[in-house]
Amino acid sequence: MFQREILKTAILTATVVVSASAWAADPSDTAGVHPGDPAAWNIGGGEQDEALHLTPDLENGMDVYEVCAACHLPEGWGTPDGTFPQLAGQHRGVLVKQMADIRAGNRDNPTMYPFTLPQAIGDAQALADVVAYIESLPMNPEWGKGPWGPGTEEYTLGEQLYKDNCVRCHGELGMGDVEKFYPRINGQHYAYMVRQFEWIRDHKRRNANPEMVEQIKNFSDKDMQAVNSYVSWQPVPEEQLADSVDWKNPDFE
Ligand code: HEC
Ligand code: HEC
Repeated sequence: MFQREILKTAILTATVVVSASAWAADPSDTAGVHPGDPAAWNIGGGEQDEALHLTPDLENGMDVYEVCAACHLPEGWGTPDGTFPQLAGQHRGVLVKQMADIRAGNRDNPTMYPFTLPQAIGDAQALADVVAYIESLPMNPEWGKGPWGPGTEEYTLGEQLYKDNCVRCHGELGMGDVEKFYPRINGQHYAYMVRQFEWIRDHKRRNANPEMVEQIKNFSDKDMQAVNSYVSWQPVPEEQLADSVDWKNPDFE
């Protein structure tokens, strides 16, 4: 499709800019991400509900995903340095909600925003399609881990913090909750999680769940690092992982 060709060229240019910019070197830089009033959390309706009820077309999903692959990689694995999150393995509802929130301006994502717009990729059907395609990808067996593995003081601190503050929503092993739009966080890159956690705590991710904001408001930076490091050391069910870190998505070879 002609329009998509233009888009691909635009992305190639954009990713060059992104990788050359200070933003990519330091993904915790908040340029373009503004604190503000929280958006009402998950009011649903509109495009989100529509996308969740449509029958996905995998073929078109693959076509749309080509745009996403420029940053999230053909495998959907993102980057362990946390610049780009791993999308593979994330719950369908979470993926749809995040896309719809970004499109609606309820979650700032200046790097990705232009590539999410309906005029770039299509309407609610395109969301349903691309998300179904992402769901078909196995996860990265070597995601980015935090600095403190089992046996360290910080791991024990993180474990306690996790039990007291996170289990009720993200589950015992970080699998989240498919029904409630709670993201899975096991298998996600540590550096990405810390950035999101900090933005949620400091009111920079406006679509954050207000109960989570309340729960973590008194977390110090050390607590934040310890708990997310702990999460990053939790196992991912074997059957969801690619056989090897060298696996390449055959659809994009
Ligand atoms: C130019 C680079 C770029 C492109 C192209 C791009 N993304 Fe992203 N995406 C990002 C970045 C950077 C983030 C993390 C933003 C942040 O830290 O808040 C992100 C975050 C996301 C998230 C949120 C993940 C989470 O765990 O909450 C989803 C979902 C997502 N992207 C899906 C897509 C899809 C689907 C496409 C293709 C239609 C796409 N992205 C194209 C850069 C990109
Ligand atoms: C009341 C439920 C709740 C509690 C408690 C909670 N979270 Fe969350 N968390 C959420 C929801 C919901 C989101 C996604 C917000 C949205 O819709 O954009 C989220 C998002 C996140 C993210 C970003 C994930 C991504 O893919 O972008 C991380 C990391 C995270 N939570 C970690 C934690 C940790 C660690 C704790 C405990 C210290 C915690 N959360 C406590 C509900 C909760």
